[in-house]
Amino acid sequence: MSRQTILPGTTAGGQQTTLGVMGGGQLGRMFVQAAQAMGYFTAVLDPDVSSPAGLVSHFHIQTDYLDEQGLAQLMQRCAAITTEFENVPAPALMTLGAHRPVAPGAEAVGIAQDRAREKAHFVRCGVPCAPYAVIESATQLNAVSDDLLPGILKTARMGYDGKGQVRVKTRDELAAAWTGLKGVPCVLEKMLPLKAECSVIVARGWDGACVNLPVQLNLHREGILAVTEVYEGNIPVALAEQAVEATKSIAEGLHYVGVLCVEFFVLADNTLIVNEIAPRPHNSGHYSVDACDVSQFDLQVRTLAGLPLQQPRQHSPSIMLNLLGDLWQGDGQVTPPWDQVLALPGVHLHLYGKLKASPGRKMGHLTITGPSVDAVRTHALAAAAILGIEAF
Ligand SMILES: Nc1ncnc2c1ncn2[C@@H]1O[C@H](COP(=O)(O)OP(=O)(O)O)[C@@H](O)[C@H]1O
Ligand SMILES: [Mg+2]
Repeated sequence: MSRQTILPGTTAGGQQTTLGVMGGGQLGRMFVQAAQAMGYFTAVLDPDVSSPAGLVSHFHIQTDYLDEQGLAQLMQRCAAITTEFENVPAPALMTLGAHRPVAPGAEAVGIAQDRAREKAHFVRCGVPCAPYAVIESATQLNAVSDDLLPGILKTARMGYDGKGQVRVKTRDELAAAWTGLKGVPCVLEKMLPLKAECSVIVARGWDGACVNLPVQLNLHREGILAVTEVYEGNIPVALAEQAVEATKSIAEGLHYVGVLCVEFFVLADNTLIVNEIAPRPHNSGHYSVDACDVSQFDLQVRTLAGLPLQQPRQHSPSIMLNLLGDLWQGDGQVTPPWDQVLALPGVHLHLYGKLKASPGRKMGHLTITGPSVDAVRTHALAAAAILGIEAF
């Protein structure tokens, strides 16, 4: 659908201009907060009565993602609609997209939902990814080349935070793992020796204009993002430039509109390998709220509303620490000592309003900013020590 600029304020009909989001998790919450800061009303569609975004939105449509009445209500309220997680059913986005501007669109989200289609897109764009094979049948399983072992078997759909993945060393382990995953369509990827992981967030407008955040250096623990470090020199300049160019070409190839994150691996010889894409703001971009003049959520609002995009400027080095439910002791009942952490300079606490802490659950994050990388690192390590987060 072609686009007009959507400005905040009261419409001719006396309604408040409202932006909508499919999904009510923490990413939706931070989108809602950015949209509200610019004067928009917001609507969230999420079945969970206490979803983080639903709790802070003007409107919360509490239905399933495919509920026709829910989708109709969302369209009736909203001038444009975005998504905050990639597993929003593509048919729901198509329904919405027939009547309202929707960014990102169903086609791009559909590709990001499926590792096999995603990898085919990388190949089309000429961006190297890990050697892989699609496994949808016993024949394909048996035909897998030994070169892909040891490898990681990943379900093609619905995986996140390392879920739906099995590491396999031998053909027997591979066969057992595929059976264990109930024979659903999978991708087997060669296990690569990673030196580092990084990600790039771009925002692309309806007119094709594209801006990027600085490259994020990411540390994962047990398949979940733990630490993101963003400052000049976090990765070699040539690599950073390559990652930004690759991300832009991936976005371009998707005719993407909205905020897109691309995750990369860096190998020992500094080869850059694309891992996966997220058709939305990303955990590794949370620092941008506190460390950049335009955050990834501001960019999401701007792309959705057809507002101008400006290249964001990072005004402070930053380190982001994820706060997982493991930090809440006593079976999730004991609140961590935020007062001690906030006594450190440059610490920004973000909690997502989740009612229950459980191991591995993303409850919030800390962003540490400061006048120098050394200061940021010192205070980030001190915060980690107070909270019992492993040093990095
Ligand atoms: N081919 C690979 N070789 C080495 N490590 C990998 C490979 N694929 C994934 N990993 C590790 O597992 C993490 C999670 O995998 P990823 O494909 O990004 O899944 P998710 O959708 O759960 O984020 C990665 O960030 C990386 O640390
Ligand atoms: Mg990932």
